[in-house]
Amino acid sequence: MLRSNEGEKDRVRDIDTKKATSLRTFEGEHLVALDRTHLMDSKLTGRKALVTGASRGIGKAIAEKLAEEGADVAMNYRSSEDEADLVAIDAESVGANTWTYRADISHLNEVREMKAIVEKYFGKIDILVNNAGINIDMLFKRMDQESWNKVIQVNLNGAFNCTSTFLDHLLESKHGRIINITSIVGQMGNIGQVNYAASKAGLIGMTKSLARELASNNITVNAIAPGFIETDMVKLIPDKVKEKVLAQIPMRRFGLPEEIAEAVVYLASDDASYITGHILNINGGMYL
Ligand code: NAI
Repeated sequence: MLRSNEGEKDRVRDIDTKKATSLRTFEGEHLVALDRTHLMDSKLTGRKALVTGASRGIGKAIAEKLAEEGADVAMNYRSSEDEADLVAIDAESVGANTWTYRADISHLNEVREMKAIVEKYFGKIDILVNNAGINIDMLFKRMDQESWNKVIQVNLNGAFNCTSTFLDHLLESKHGRIINITSIVGQMGNIGQVNYAASKAGLIGMTKSLARELASNNITVNAIAPGFIETDMVKLIPDKVKEKVLAQIPMRRFGLPEEIAEAVVYLASDDASYITGHILNINGGMYL
């Protein structure tokens, strides 16, 4: 695992300090291949993925599942360095090469710096998963411009920053994949989430338009629209509200991050090579 945050001052951390059984993936500065014979037949062997917001929740599950299917995974995080390292260690335990990098995706310059380091130490990516997202919920009559802008800046402009910055990698790949994590809220709206719904609906429009533009380059662009998934984002919802939400879900349960991750693996794989511009609902039947 390589962690790198400061350009030329990049450093390799010996992950053995965290887990005795972990694998060494780097020699000096450069990535070296692990023994991955057990992954030879996996769906994503030989692919390289970048997952934003990979230190916890859905992003963590996606990073781990991509690794399980043979991909090397670069994991972006905003602040939780130790959590990101633990995800990387998990991914390495199944044989993936991993790399973690702190960058706020809402700042284009930070994403560009991340790309320079990705290229140098990890290589060019084939799969981009725009997962990072935030919510700042309040009724619209109380919503200030800052709360509106912040959510749009991370959820929508962040996806623009990453997609535009890494587009040349995807154009060079024979299997380019862009997978945007939108939300059921972008499809049906939600009280108290006008800013969030607008950002996620924006991602849907972006997905469909980009799918049309990039189809001739053999890049597929799809989105996953999760319903309510058991992560920190949902844990913060008051119990009374949760009960009301559950009553609206025909399957009467919240989804699991792994259920989103499985769909990302599918869309990233050759099995989904003719699917583009699709919005895949994973919501227990809450929105049909
Ligand atoms: P979470 O809050 O547990 O994780 C979000 C991740 O994004 C965190 O690791 C956070 O550090 C990262 N992040 C936030 N702002 C960032 C920035 N500026 N730069 C880099 N990283 C940043 O949320 P969860 O539930 O895992 O959500 C993941 C995605 O799925 C989000 O886009 C969210 O909107 C979406 N989603 C989640 C649902 C749920 O029920 N949990 C439902 C529908 C969509």
